Amino acid sequence: MRARLRELTANGARVALVPTMGALHEGHLALVDAAAKVADVVAVSIFVNPLQFGPNEDLARYPRTPESDSAALTEHGATIVFMPTAEEMYGANTSRTTVTPPLFAALLEGSVRPGHFAGVLTVVAKLFNIVQPDVAVFGRKDLQQLSLIRAMVADLNFPVQIMAIDTVRESDGLALSSRNRYLDADARRHAPALHAALVSAKDAFDAGSTNPAAIESAGKAVLAKDGAFEVDYLTLVNETDFARPSVAAKGDSIVVAARIGGTRLIDNIQL
Ligand code: PAJ
Repeated sequence: MRARLRELTANGARVALVPTMGALHEGHLALVDAAAKVADVVAVSIFVNPLQFGPNEDLARYPRTPESDSAALTEHGATIVFMPTAEEMYGANTSRTTVTPPLFAALLEGSVRPGHFAGVLTVVAKLFNIVQPDVAVFGRKDLQQLSLIRAMVADLNFPVQIMAIDTVRESDGLALSSRNRYLDADARRHAPALHAALVSAKDAFDAGSTNPAAIESAGKAVLAKDGAFEVDYLTLVNETDFARPSVAAKGDSIVVAARIGGTRLIDNIQL
């Protein structure tokens, strides 16, 4: 990968990296489009990272669609695709150096997925070192992940600019996700309530409410009325360290995770 990138950047070309786990949809491709606008060389990685999956999670059944991924990436102007095997990334030795995330990795997504963010930060650090990009592009869809990556880059002095892209949605508001394919027809019909709940919470803020509990209640009420979701959390956070502010302010976000028919969905909206 480094040898190929050396050739591609011989004339001082600017490199963007878009890390993914494949099964690409229009959300991922929006990151590739954004990367192509700011860089000469767009490197996309496709790696289903075992380190970020828990023992009872969907590693084995995680969707893998390398042929259609490659075709879509060519169409969207990616220059080079990095698709290592787990063996190439980690070798046979299971005792490896890893990144210890800051404390807010234990909150929210981290509380239901212990070790998940250590796995994410470790593989992202490896990808940064392998590709050595000028800029790396991530989606706001995974907001806690984005904030943790920003923290790692600042704390460990990675010479890379982090670019964040707004969540791409279906016309009914459902955020694109590779896990949406697990929704049956009934769950799919209810799924847009997740985004609708976030919009209601934001509306409460826009109408003048700065009380976090009142804003959260407006969102939770939409999910309670719909009745199809089991809510893991719906909470106001600040994007820097995911603490819950005592007074809501512009730039804070409302994050939600909820389960519907066996599938767990996450989403967020910024005030
Ligand atoms: P993955 O889930 O494949 O997502 C890759 C990137 O696409 C992430 O930055 C994610 O936030 C972004 N993304 C996903 N759905 C999106 C949507 N609807 N709109 C905009 N962007 C979206 O996130 C991971 O992979 C992994 O944890 C990774 C960072 C690659 C490390 O293994």
